Amino acid sequence: MTTWTARSLAEQTGRTFVITGANSGVGLEAARDLVGRGGHVVLAVRDLDKGEQARAALTSGGGTGSAEVRQLDLADLDSVAAFAKGLTEKLETDGKLLNALVCNAGVMGGPLLYTTQGFERQVGTNHLGHVALVSALWPALHSAAGRVVVVSSIASRGGRLSTSTTRNDLVAPSPYASGKVYANSKQANLLFAQELHRRVVEAGSPVSAVACHPGVSWTNLFARQLRDEGKGWLVPALTLIRPIVFQSAGAGAQPTLRALDPSTPSGAFVGPKFLNGARGRPEILDVFSTGADPDVAQHVWQLTEDILGTPIPV
Ligand SMILES: NC(=O)c1ccc[n+]([C@@H]2O[C@H](COP(=O)([O-])OP(=O)(O)OC[C@H]3O[C@@H](n4cnc5c(N)ncnc54)[C@H](OP(=O)(O)O)[C@@H]3O)[C@@H](O)[C@H]2O)c1
Repeated sequence: MTTWTARSLAEQTGRTFVITGANSGVGLEAARDLVGRGGHVVLAVRDLDKGEQARAALTSGGGTGSAEVRQLDLADLDSVAAFAKGLTEKLETDGKLLNALVCNAGVMGGPLLYTTQGFERQVGTNHLGHVALVSALWPALHSAAGRVVVVSSIASRGGRLSTSTTRNDLVAPSPYASGKVYANSKQANLLFAQELHRRVVEAGSPVSAVACHPGVSWTNLFARQLRDEGKGWLVPALTLIRPIVFQSAGAGAQPTLRALDPSTPSGAFVGPKFLNGARGRPEILDVFSTGADPDVAQHVWQLTEDILGTPIPV
């Protein structure tokens, strides 16, 4: 079997991608690659200024593709609905299809905070906001036979979601242990992608679903966590150990790019293997055991529908 490399991905001219949190880190690097290959990338960002800076950097890089910035705050379900409505109308006006949605944006750690609708912030942003987005964009994804890529994490191995998990465990975890809640949110990402895959197959839907993880990559995620937790003084130390611990954000984007490649089948899980998954080439992995139990996946799916107050339309 040939090894997948960045060169394996075809030209993307005429294809449209949405990447959440595409103004920095892994999402920005995935966007850079796709624009370089001629794709059109919608940068779905919560801060329009940061989004415009990213767009300018991407489109001045010599690629033949294009990028546009649209406002999306995953921690506010009204913003998710408005984003999906605006994008769907624009796609129709332009006669374009939505070929893929990359659920990439994420927050890690920090103090106990809540989304606009009152859900714990990490689960609310990383999982609930993305599920609401997939649901709202479902007609566009369906008519394009599009792909949903969900960015999980090696932290999902520490998730403790089970068939006994309650609604409150997700939206109001107590006592609050931010690391455990992050792990649960990334486990929920993996479970959602797996369950979505099973359901599209069962429904005979043309949509496909792939999960991935970026290893341990140098992005804003860790420094922001330290600052949010009042440990900003540790950031210089983090920078010092950067070459030992972290791979680049560009390397961290490779699993996303492989997940987008049509040669990667629906239901796959892509990520590096080396150093317990911290770095390396994007490979097709066995799903971590915390993401592989269909009963847990189905239970979390139903809890998610209950919290969002609407069925996920597969
Ligand atoms: N870096 C790693 O080693 C690593 C490891 C495992 C998994 N991951 C996952 O990889 C994904 C990308 O993270 P990253 O490492 O590239 O970190 P990053 O550079 O901090 O990027 C995260 C992105 O998410 C955006 N975001 C946060 N909250 C949002 C919200 N409410 N609505 C919309 N966008 C929001 C951020 O926007 P702002 O810039 O405005 O804050 C930023 O663009 C995340 O899902 C993360 O959990 C990363």
